[in-house]
Amino acid sequence: MTSPLELHDPSFRGFASDNYAGIHPEVLAAMAAANGGHQTSYGDDVYTARLQEVFQRHFGPDAQAFPVFNGTGANVVGLSAMTRRWSAVVAAETAHINVDECGAPEKVAGIKLLTVPTPDGRLTPELVDRQAWGWGDEHRAQPHVVSLTQSTELGTVYTPEEVRALADHAHERGMLVHMDGSRLANAAASLDVPMREFTTDAGVDVLSFGGTKNGLMLGEAVVVLNPELAPSIKYLRKSAMQLASKMRFVSAQLLALLEGDLWLRNARHANGLAVRLADAVRDLPGLEITRPVQANAVFAILPKDVTERLQKRFRFYTWNFSTGEVRWMTAFDTTEEDVDVFAAAIAADLTG
Ligand SMILES: Cc1ncc(COP(=O)(O)O)c(C=O)c1O
Repeated sequence: MTSPLELHDPSFRGFASDNYAGIHPEVLAAMAAANGGHQTSYGDDVYTARLQEVFQRHFGPDAQAFPVFNGTGANVVGLSAMTRRWSAVVAAETAHINVDECGAPEKVAGIKLLTVPTPDGRLTPELVDRQAWGWGDEHRAQPHVVSLTQSTELGTVYTPEEVRALADHAHERGMLVHMDGSRLANAAASLDVPMREFTTDAGVDVLSFGGTKNGLMLGEAVVVLNPELAPSIKYLRKSAMQLASKMRFVSAQLLALLEGDLWLRNARHANGLAVRLADAVRDLPGLEITRPVQANAVFAILPKDVTERLQKRFRFYTWNFSTGEVRWMTAFDTTEEDVDVFAAAIAADLTG
């Protein structure tokens, strides 16, 4: 019998976002296992303690992880620790911190964002230099941080060498490097390298590590890789309203993801299905794949009337209303059948 609390069809999956997905069963089981009895609140619990060891295994012995509720919070807390009242952060125009956080970095962290248009969501040292100038000029907010998103909002991925070049460039100018890793696992799966190769080892100072899009109910972590930046984080996290009193349940979820290889299994699965979808529709007449498919997103332009008809049957977003570009995202629970049914529907509409 269906529970009266079940208000949706649990077999329905779309291509709108990886955060439309539910909780991975192993994560749900980890939360259940962490339940019962009392544990000290506000992070002084055994799950959060264990999480430090696990993050250090992935990101090196200096890594310090601060669990938070969401990605906007992770970015705000991390960037706050890296900036002063007169700081600016250089970021891609398409960065989530610029377009999708309702101004939280500006309002809550008090940072000026200096943005740069990019061809595919990735910054380069040359692009950074369009905004990284004017130090010492009291009329200009001081560029103190470069923020990169890995994988990017456009489904592309920086190689470890690209991150290293950006970090060296930033550090030579006295700037720090923040990485919005809301989809960090997807980047690692795509590059097939350990996460520390394009974070700690490439010179990233502070990382927003994403869990929600990779199978958690909720939970991300600010991971401080440059220990000098760690002391302020606990105060900033609380004052930014990101300190969970029952933190054991955020930490238990992150542990479920990172203790074994669930983070990689989920990301590989989602990425693989994005490639399957792109390959299935790439040669269709009237459809153009617009970005390299390097993580779990496919971007395409197709006729607007086709998009409108498809959107009546499948959930996905129009990314750019003027060009008709759409975004299709896969998640840890997307199935091959979901992709094949969707691709067949696109083909039938375009060729029928
Ligand atoms: C690149 C990126 N950063 C951060 C976030 C985190 O957002 P939220 O505050 O909704 O968890 C998202 C979510 O869409 C994202 O795509």
